[in-house]
Amino acid sequence: MKNRTILFSLLIGTSLFADVKKGEDVYKANCAICHTIDGRGGLGPDFNMVSYKRTKEEIASYAKDPYSLSEKFGYSANAMPTLPLTNQEFKDVADYVSSLVKFKVWMKKRKDIKKELVKVDNNSSKLSS
Ligand code: HEC
Repeated sequence: MKNRTILFSLLIGTSLFADVKKGEDVYKANCAICHTIDGRGGLGPDFNMVSYKRTKEEIASYAKDPYSLSEKFGYSANAMPTLPLTNQEFKDVADYVSSLVKFKVWMKKRKDIKKELVKVDNNSSKLSS
């Protein structure tokens, strides 16, 4: 199992999943005091909302340089501090934020519900015939 995971990572040429996991750690240590991920909101916008409207690249570049980008992103003032993280950490945390898109999770659940409905339909047609 472990070997297969390693092989998979080699095949796709990058450790996608590790990035998201590392990004979660970066988030917890550096962003969580201002940005929530459950819609509650804090000093900064909730990251679920951010993941809908921004690309990974946008998130990484804003995190890296909020001072220069705040106007471009529609803010009249910049309250987010410039954080002393590495480029890799900005990239990882952006991957993590992008992975939060709840709508896709919801869509997936809907598909499962549809499958269940089809099952129920099949059963009831069996019963009636
Ligand atoms: C001290 C509070 C604070 C911390 C810590 C913080 N932010 Fe922010 N962030 C803000 C505020 C406030 C804004 C709103 C714009 C501004 O003031 O620059 C913001 C805006 C953003 C935006 C733009 C959202 C959008 O789409 O309009 C991104 C992306 C972002 N933050 C990412 C991060 C990441 C990633 C981290 C951690 C590495 C982080 N922030 C840490 C306060 C914070």
